[in-house]
Amino acid sequence: MTQSSRGRAPAGDAGGRAGAGRPVPPRDADAAERLLSAGRIAVEGRLVQASNATLYCSIEHDGATANCVYKPVAGERPLWDFPDGTLAEREVAAYEVSKAMGWNTVPPTVHRDGPYGPGMVQLWVEPDPDIDLVALSRSDDEAVRRMAVFDAVVNNADRKIGHLLPPGDGHVYGCDHGVCFSTEYKLRTVLWQWRGKPLTAEAVDALGRVHAELRGALGARLAELLTAEEVDATRRRVELMLKHRIHPYPPEDWPAIPWPPL
Ligand SMILES: Nc1ncnc2c1ncn2[C@@H]1O[C@H](COP(=O)(O)OP(=O)(O)O)[C@@H](O)[C@H]1O
Ligand SMILES: [Mg+2]
Repeated sequence: MTQSSRGRAPAGDAGGRAGAGRPVPPRDADAAERLLSAGRIAVEGRLVQASNATLYCSIEHDGATANCVYKPVAGERPLWDFPDGTLAEREVAAYEVSKAMGWNTVPPTVHRDGPYGPGMVQLWVEPDPDIDLVALSRSDDEAVRRMAVFDAVVNNADRKIGHLLPPGDGHVYGCDHGVCFSTEYKLRTVLWQWRGKPLTAEAVDALGRVHAELRGALGARLAELLTAEEVDATRRRVELMLKHRIHPYPPEDWPAIPWPPL
C-alpha cells in the first residue's frame, strides 16, 4: 500500500492505470451510486492524516471507473460518545439527508461489503489545489453557507477545514460525516460565521424539503441507518430551525470548534 503524504491521491496516480488518465466520475448520483455499490474496488493507498482506516481506491463497473474512499467498519477507531461500528452508517445517512436537501453537499456514498469487510464507499472528489481552504472556511461563500445549514441538520461533531472539498467549479463538497446524528446537541465546526443570522430563503426551502421527506422515503431510509431516537432528534433539529429561522449558536457545554481545526 502506498502512503499519500497530503491525504490526497498521490501525484500521477491516475486511477492506478498508467496512461488511462484520471477516471471521469459519473455525472449523476444514480449512476455514481450504481458504480459505488456494484463496482470492483482496488485499494491503492491509505490516507495518512485520517483518524480511521480511510482507504483511497479505484472502482470499476461495466466500463465506468472512478476513485473512491473506502472506510471499513473494522477500521473505525472506537469513540467514547458514539456507539462502536456505526460510523459508516452515519456517513451514508448524511448523504441521504444531503440528497433530500437538494444541495449535494455530500459526494455519493453507499454502504457495502469491500476488501476489508462492510464499510462506507464514497466517490472521490478531487479538490482544486489552488483554492485556499482556510480562506474558504472563513468566507461568505454560498456553498459553504449551505454546508453550515446541512451540518446543523445532521448535528455534525467534526466539520474541519480539511473536510471541505471544492472541485473548482464553485461547488463545495464535504466529507467525513461519521460523527453525526447524536441525539445531544454536538455541533462542532469551523463554520460559525453565520451564527444567529437569518437563514436564507433557499435554506428554509431545503429544510422544508427535508422535513417533508423525513415523513416519507428519507425517514424510512434513516430508520435503517440510525436509531429511532436519532431520526426523531433529526426531525426536531429541522423543526427548531424552521421555527427560529436562524443559523444555530454554538453549544455552551461542548467545544464548538474541532481541534485541530484543519
Ligand atoms: N470523498 C472524498 N473525496 C476527496 N477527498 C476525500 C474524500 N473523503 C476523504 N477525503 C480526504 O481524506 C481525508 C481523510 O478522510 P476523512 O473522511 O476525514 O477520514 P477520517 O474519518 O479518518 O478523519 C479528508 O480530510 C480529505 O482530505
Ligand atoms: Mg477527518
